[in-house]
Amino acid sequence: MDRLKVIEVFEGLSFPGNLHTQESLRAAVNFQFQDTDVLLVTFPKSGTNWMQQILSLIFNKENPQHAQSLPTWQRVPWIEQIHLLNCLTDVKTSKVRLLTTHLHARLLIHKLKNTKTRVVYMARNPKDVLVSYYHFHKLAKFMPEFDSFEDFFDHFLEGKVFYGSWFDHIKDWLSVQQELNFFLITYEELSQEPCQTIQNLANFLGEQLEPKDLQNILHYCSFSFMSQNELLNYTLIPSDVFDHSVGKFMRKGETGNWKEHFSPEQNTRFNHVYQREMGDLIIKFPWSQE
Ligand code: A3P
Repeated sequence: MDRLKVIEVFEGLSFPGNLHTQESLRAAVNFQFQDTDVLLVTFPKSGTNWMQQILSLIFNKENPQHAQSLPTWQRVPWIEQIHLLNCLTDVKTSKVRLLTTHLHARLLIHKLKNTKTRVVYMARNPKDVLVSYYHFHKLAKFMPEFDSFEDFFDHFLEGKVFYGSWFDHIKDWLSVQQELNFFLITYEELSQEPCQTIQNLANFLGEQLEPKDLQNILHYCSFSFMSQNELLNYTLIPSDVFDHSVGKFMRKGETGNWKEHFSPEQNTRFNHVYQREMGDLIIKFPWSQE
């Protein structure tokens, strides 16, 4: 069967069937975390690959070449994807296991809460996530097709996209942060103050960075470096999976690109939903003023 168009539904969320099965999703929910693990959590298109690269560089600072020896998804694999078992061999050779998930907290908290696993939650302005996700749907042949940007916009706001609602995802993780060894980081801080933000992250991870380590990390995680390296930019993905003629995985790498896509009416509608969903949160995000 062609898995490219299969949709896996699990615990009320839908997932692309070429990367997930019921078995792989069940295995993720039962994953045995270790105290030394680092788990990167993101909603799709929040800069997952960027942070995978940064984590890999921080833990391999003596050998920054490691960060271009394998694709990011092999060095910091998703625990819910079918490739996990193949990747864990590579992951085990490093001193800590670097792992990724797009799953919501409610599916993992029972396994995480009694561990010291370091959880890094990377968030991004949901307006930019929406735009990036829209373009990814055009690029990736395993994503559903939408008639137009407007159509996708509505589905995103309603949480009717793969991996569910952006709002539910972030609220779910923030609601359990006290029970976890948890660090919140945003795409925007990383873009605006990369040195300080990476230093703060390294402090949380208990990793000492010398100035030259920081310089290496900044170089190897830069958009210009990652977007030109074929192991990191997804151009090696076969054309039956990614239609490289319609766009790039490493598309813009900017903050605020939503302004070129949203109409004033869409912006008002988005702000209204944002306020309804997020208005009670005390935490202020870099995009809260936009
Ligand atoms: P855009 O589509 O807005 O360009 P994910 O890895 O979660 O799928 O997120 C992909 C988004 O992160 C894309 O956003 C991509 O360009 C951006 N990205 C990837 N690597 C980056 C980097 N090194 N610096 C900044 N943005 C990066």
